[in-house]
Amino acid sequence: RTTTEEKRKRKMLEVKRIGVVGSGQMGSGIAQVAAMHGIDVWLHDLDPQALSKASSSISSSINRFVSKNHISQVAGADALKRLRLTTDLEDLQLADLIIEAIVESEDVKKSLFAQLDRIAKSSAILASNTSSISVTRLATSTSRPRQVIGMHFMNPPPVMKLIEIVRGADTSEETFVATKALSERLGKVVITSHDYSGFIVNRILMPMINEAFFALYTGVATKEDIDTGMKLGTNHPMGPLELADFIGLDVCLSIMRVLHAGLGDNKYAPCPLLVQYVDAGRLGRKRGIGVYEYSKDPRSTKS
Ligand code: 3HC
Repeated sequence: RTTTEEKRKRKMLEVKRIGVVGSGQMGSGIAQVAAMHGIDVWLHDLDPQALSKASSSISSSINRFVSKNHISQVAGADALKRLRLTTDLEDLQLADLIIEAIVESEDVKKSLFAQLDRIAKSSAILASNTSSISVTRLATSTSRPRQVIGMHFMNPPPVMKLIEIVRGADTSEETFVATKALSERLGKVVITSHDYSGFIVNRILMPMINEAFFALYTGVATKEDIDTGMKLGTNHPMGPLELADFIGLDVCLSIMRVLHAGLGDNKYAPCPLLVQYVDAGRLGRKRGIGVYEYSKDPRSTKS
């Protein structure tokens, strides 16, 4: 039987309002998922133009769900009403949980966490959507390391079923339980990782992508055959090179570097071809060129 104390604790930890910092592809997708699941969201970005871009991509993604009859028109409109856009970080002071989805730089994230620590209410959880930076180290820039956690969504957040929760060295059980409950409310399946480089998904995914680059670099096969091999041979929705373009080659390279430095094994050394593409600005779909070339519409098919 649940005791009054347990009920009180659960209520205390229930997340009703969240803040999302960073309105790029991940941040806007996370905000959308929360709003679609009945949670009030403040989506913050320093750049008003980024916010207006986020707003139109959220609307079009919601319209996609409506047109496929996954949600009703009313539910779509309600979700949009739960979403507030802001350039003022102070607006996040009432949030029960704040998810950071800004640039993947430890220094920039640490300075944001220090700011959020000052702004957020004392009970609030500070979560990071980082794909590879140590949650334990991010937590040191706050006065509440027990309330700092990794909440790693997959791209695109409205579609992908997984959230990888990363427990830092000091993350408390209460913080973990509340974050897991929120993730499940968002309709996601949760996996839990300790805080080691790459966590679970990128620890395994990125070496596979890197190996695909090595296969291309050493002339094992064409890019098309490498991708078709993995798509049809192992039932992946995208081949590894196509997926690298989708994620961003710069992101893949930076995660490989984190794995290489953090796990100290040469098997994680980035492929020279991946390094060269990034040096050349061939960053993938977002730039119109990566391993493949894309026409202007970033959702268009490759050539
Ligand atoms: N909003 C709403 N719906 C969307 C959407 C969006 N942004 N993107 C896709 N969809 C929906 C479509 O409407 C469609 O719905 P339906 O099944 O009801 O018809 C469904 O998703 C499939 O989309 P499409 O038919 O347009 O295209 P695809 O079949 O090619 O699917 C994809 C697109 C879901 C991206 C699929 O290709 C895929 O799963 N790719 C692999 C993605 C992946 O591996 N992501 C993880 C990357 S790793 C990561 O994120 C970690 C990070 O740290 C690096």
